Amino acid sequence: MNENEISEMIELAMQARTKAYEPYSNFQVGACVKMENGSYYTGCNIENASYGATNCAERTAVFKAVSEGCRKLSAIAIVGGLKDGECDYTYPCGICRQVIAEFAEQGCVIVVAKNKQEYRMYSVEELLPETFHLNKEE
Ligand code: THU
Repeated sequence: MNENEISEMIELAMQARTKAYEPYSNFQVGACVKMENGSYYTGCNIENASYGATNCAERTAVFKAVSEGCRKLSAIAIVGGLKDGECDYTYPCGICRQVIAEFAEQGCVIVVAKNKQEYRMYSVEELLPETFHLNKEE
């Protein structure tokens, strides 16, 4: 992942964030995943009157990729902040960390960004140490 690729993913996440459905929290999140085959999928948070039915931006993006047959995650970029405000560092929630871990390939990078210039990079292990896995075939 070079700087241009990271910048591109942050831009795509920012665009996805504009589609957020967040009538209850006013908090808009966008995510962009890059898959092993080079394809990108984006997602936003989608809230629900029954709060627990809300889907985070990260899971929207990952589930879009997996449902299209892409299962190996090379990187994910995340941006978030209050509607009409600037983005602040927005870290994936616990459920999203577990979902990212499920599909992350070795070396998968998690980019948490305020903007294209200010971002932090993490490994999956840093954000979810001692990850729970069942024994998978591969
Ligand atoms: N949210 C995300 O989309 N991703 C995160 O990593 C944290 C939280 C959403 C869920 C909800 O719509 C709003 O942000 C406030 O929690």
